[in-house]
Amino acid sequence: MVEIVGARELAKTYRLGNSEVQALRGVTLEVAGGEFVAFMGPSGSGKSTLLHLLGGLDRPSSGEVILDGQAISHLSDDDLTRLRRDKTGFVFQFFNLIPTLTVAENVGLPFLVAGRDPRSAENAAEIAAVLEWLELTGKERHRPDELSGGEQQRVALARALVMRPAVVFADEPTGNLDFTSGTEVLEHLFRSCVQREQTIVLVTHDAKAAAYADRVFFVQDGRILEEIVLGRREEHGAKPLIDRLAQLGL
Ligand SMILES: Nc1ncnc2c1ncn2[C@@H]1O[C@H](COP(=O)(O)OP(=O)(O)O)[C@@H](O)[C@H]1O
Ligand SMILES: [Mg+2]
Repeated sequence: MVEIVGARELAKTYRLGNSEVQALRGVTLEVAGGEFVAFMGPSGSGKSTLLHLLGGLDRPSSGEVILDGQAISHLSDDDLTRLRRDKTGFVFQFFNLIPTLTVAENVGLPFLVAGRDPRSAENAAEIAAVLEWLELTGKERHRPDELSGGEQQRVALARALVMRPAVVFADEPTGNLDFTSGTEVLEHLFRSCVQREQTIVLVTHDAKAAAYADRVFFVQDGRILEEIVLGRREEHGAKPLIDRLAQLGL
């Protein structure tokens, strides 16, 4: 296994005035390149904190994060920002699209952030390709408020994928969608994994969503309570995960 994302005894404590919240209490795991993993668990268990740390959006209180095979504690903030920009894409529950920009402009933002022209022939072709990949051809000139929730999340996913990141982090990407639109987003994440060999790190409280993953980590109270190995989605539906969670009383 070639580790692309990992955690070693990760802990994170938030300080709020005089009080402290121990959001993570020692998480160790390894994710191989091309794997699809999911973190499941109740609200407040530390899933988003873990995803933020693994994706280099925040730093741990103690422990080590591995991203693209590098220990991030050795990186300066600038180097970490560059690594994140080059290797990762993020999708969140709220689509975070810029309402005044068109679909194509929203999807082109990562090029701008990287100091590249989204309208160059090469980059415009990448934008068109990712929009086609996400079945958004014809929507290029629309603004976000002219799209359904499912379409908006697919635009957010297109923006996350346009630079072909090695790792895609998704925090409750279906949390704001109806079942059908949510399933489409999960199918697209799964296709990115299988057809483009991208590593997917999904956070969800929904067992049906987590069941797209090869492995599911059940998070509780800032720790990994259980690791459930499912194997590739083509070989199973959601039932093995739901049965296993029931056995564990979760
Ligand atoms: N920025 C923050 N400041 C203070 N406390 C936080 C912050 N982010 C999360 N927490 C707390 O850390 C714990 C874990 O939160 P979170 O990682 O968001 O859990 P989950 O995503 O599983 O719902 C919760 O008790 C939450 O209130
Ligand atoms: Mg969360």
